[in-house]
Amino acid sequence: MKNIVILISGGGSNMAAIVKTAQRERWADCYGARVAAVISNKAQAQGLQFASAQGIVTEVLDHRSYPSREAFDAALAQLIDRYDDPGQPVLVLLAGFMRILTPGFVNRYAGRLVNIHPSLLPAFAGLHTHQRAIDAGCQVAGATVHRVTPELDHGPILAQAVVPVLPGDTADTLAARVLTQEHLIYPQAVAQLLRKM
Ligand code: GRF
Repeated sequence: MKNIVILISGGGSNMAAIVKTAQRERWADCYGARVAAVISNKAQAQGLQFASAQGIVTEVLDHRSYPSREAFDAALAQLIDRYDDPGQPVLVLLAGFMRILTPGFVNRYAGRLVNIHPSLLPAFAGLHTHQRAIDAGCQVAGATVHRVTPELDHGPILAQAVVPVLPGDTADTLAARVLTQEHLIYPQAVAQLLRKM
């Protein structure tokens, strides 16, 4: 089995969309792939409950218990590597994982580390993407699935979705519109990767 490990920090709706799509599209049969574990850096992340209800292993690794970013990332890699196999390298998906990863971690999973970002990259890397898009007067916004490289929110683009910015939009209304598209493009981008793996 190709193991997929998903990292979350909060709601986990993108993770849930991937898990549901994997079930609906029978990724186990089609690609020999399964979501093996969901790891959160926050114990209260709501997504953990969904994942365990689906019978997926969940782990909490609180970054505050580690003296440095490097120490946290090393512990995270140790957890992830339980699902890694030289013949079947683990695929690591960031889904609302609100931690900046060290270059050492990113390089360890080079080519098999993917993120979703709520903007049309390369515009609006970083935080507060929806408010920044509104403030800039953008007429469209969206989301990007991309490979992770050491530079934050850069890396080759795998998929994008575009939504309109509507008059009267707030960061919240725009975020909700973008999120519905994230739930479509992230699972599809992952399926496309699995087909090639
Ligand atoms: C999503 O908008 C994602 O793009 C961003 O954080 C949000 C996480 O949502 N990085 P969820 O945890 O997947 O519900």
